[in-house]
Amino acid sequence: MKSDPSTPSAWPYPHWIAHRGAGRLAPENTLAAFRLGAQHGYRMAECDAKLSADGVLFLLHDDTLERTTNGQGLGGALPWAALSQLDAGGWHSRAYAGEPPATLEAVARHCLANGHHLNIEIKPSPGQAHATGEAVGREATRLWAGAAGAPPLLSSFEPEALAGARASAPQLPRGLLLETLCDGWLDTALGLGCVAVICDHEHWTAEAMARTRQAGLRTLAYTVNEPADVARLEAWGIDGIITDRVDLFAPD
Ligand code: G3P
Ligand code: MG
Repeated sequence: MKSDPSTPSAWPYPHWIAHRGAGRLAPENTLAAFRLGAQHGYRMAECDAKLSADGVLFLLHDDTLERTTNGQGLGGALPWAALSQLDAGGWHSRAYAGEPPATLEAVARHCLANGHHLNIEIKPSPGQAHATGEAVGREATRLWAGAAGAPPLLSSFEPEALAGARASAPQLPRGLLLETLCDGWLDTALGLGCVAVICDHEHWTAEAMARTRQAGLRTLAYTVNEPADVARLEAWGIDGIITDRVDLFAPD
């Protein structure tokens, strides 16, 4: 059914979304971060998911392991048995030393057990956009089967990843991530059947937000850490804010 542009369909997600679990307060994309975000009252979190060499979806922002683990090289080149042995917390602080990387399944089960929402950013290893999108769609369908409440919001900077997610899970909502309002951004989002556009907060304009809403899509922004930026975006009617500052902003 075609949506009425003047009344975007009901939006089931909270306004506030904790970036990578708990922003920078805990090691990003680990279960510890999701627990800490939840302790700050956040009912929705964003995470970055990619495929291991043996097809397990796990959380890692970068292509490579060095910044956020004690491993080396491409994260997607290792099987989960090797990834699961890494320390994904020691780089952050001694308190989190030994914290393992998380599978998407572990984080999904944490969210489902708490009645929380999840935004799964599809973050493919190089050359794996479509396959990763397909895998995320399949896995999210499996994990949320029969769950009460809203399904996860799948997002990506890579249209090919969103096309993969649509192929395996057309029923799951998709959001196009943008670093800038590049040429054709709204047509790309509409062409992929997205329900939302998620842009770097510095590049949203009042006019772009109005156009997005007129097209029947929701507007979200990342990564918003300053009160002045929150105020500006909210004056323009932003639907969702992804933040690191779970300690500063009280969620809805
Ligand atoms: O999904 C929003 C945000 O996480 C996108 O940027 O680089 O933090 O994954 P990045
Ligand atoms: Mg992300």
